[in-house]
Amino acid sequence: MTSIVISGSGLYTPSHSISNDELVASFNQYVDAYNARYAEAIVAGSKSQLEHSSSEFIFKASGIKSRYVVEKSGILDPDRMRPLIPERADDEPCLLAEFGIKAAQEALERAGREAGDVDLVIVACSNLQRAYPAIAIEIQQHLGCVGYGYDMNVACSSATFGIGAAADAIRSGTARCALVISPEITSAQLNFRDRDSHFIFGDVATAVVVEAEETCRSDNAFRLLGAMFKTEFSNNIRNNFGFINHCEPEKPDISDRLFRQNGRKVFKELLPLVGRVNQEHLQKLGLRPSELKRLWLHQANLTMNLFAAKKLLGREPDEQTLPIILDRYANTSSAGSIIAFHLYSDDFAPGEKGLLSSFGAGYSVGSVILERC
Ligand SMILES: CC(C)(COP(=O)(O)OP(=O)(O)OC[C@H]1O[C@@H](n2cnc3c(N)ncnc32)[C@H](O)[C@@H]1OP(=O)(O)O)[C@@H](O)C(=O)NCCC(=O)NCCS
Repeated sequence: MTSIVISGSGLYTPSHSISNDELVASFNQYVDAYNARYAEAIVAGSKSQLEHSSSEFIFKASGIKSRYVVEKSGILDPDRMRPLIPERADDEPCLLAEFGIKAAQEALERAGREAGDVDLVIVACSNLQRAYPAIAIEIQQHLGCVGYGYDMNVACSSATFGIGAAADAIRSGTARCALVISPEITSAQLNFRDRDSHFIFGDVATAVVVEAEETCRSDNAFRLLGAMFKTEFSNNIRNNFGFINHCEPEKPDISDRLFRQNGRKVFKELLPLVGRVNQEHLQKLGLRPSELKRLWLHQANLTMNLFAAKKLLGREPDEQTLPIILDRYANTSSAGSIIAFHLYSDDFAPGEKGLLSSFGAGYSVGSVILERC
């Protein structure tokens, strides 16, 4: 069977960053204004008083200290609480494409590839900016790639599933060189008025080049030893935004069209699934957990990552084994594990192995085992 490699990766980080203290100050201003406006209704019991958020809680519950975002002022304005994103003309690159292009350019450069070598572009992410035409086709055209492109969404597992799809396309001969791009503008789907989740997400874009080992020009490539995927339906992470909304009866509260989750249940139900998939995958390949130099895990929550790593390795993970980027990036959905891979893979010697694993809404779990060529 054709040996497949990741021959380069790229990362685009927006320039705006919001600390927990800044986010909490804006949230608490909103809460105070709300409680003052509805003071009578709160006393009468027809509305509930809102509670303040706190930086200490956020760090303790999630491990997040700050997050990068596409636009900061609109999020921090207590009267708006969402990024201010100007509309663009149809003949300009859309925002998601612009994010993806920047990450893709770095991935191509690291892979020693020209855009014209790429004959498959997959945009794999949680939130697609529009229904059609595919963002991937827009990026294909903008970069000058050939072949074909399509968008796909498996929420936080999109990037690993995308790598699997690209590898399958190359093995089957429908493509020779693929870009798997994960632009995540998560701040646009986040309800910044929801105390339970207003701190969770950040914006970023990642990209990887996937190709056959025999065509690879990079001297820092990683061979795909295997990929395993699993999905099980759950409503515990959900966003009801979609084109059918337009036809639904109007309602005052449309917060279900933004991200919402039952975080505790996610924690309890998803972790065992992650453990099972990764263990089964290692067994299938005849590998022991101790043979993994690094775990590039999805970055949603620090406790969750520590738990998943300890369960797999049978010991407390150190910083070398389990790099954490969510302190400064927060949860960047499908891009999280790829950011960790991009920033923490240069120190691998040939033959050393690592696990790239994603997990999230669906539920979905992706497990990709890589070996430095
Ligand atoms: C979301 C998450 C960080 C919340 O952490 P948690 O420890 O479960 O916190 P809870 O929601 O149970 O709330 C605990 C307490 O903190 C309070 N709290 C919630 N948000 C708060 C905030 N922003 N500031 C201060 N206190 C807060 C709650 O009211 C609750 O108080 P109580 O104990 O008096 O009832 C955590 O559940 C999580 O990360 N889950 C997995 C999420 C995930 O991976 N999702 C995938 C998305 S792709």
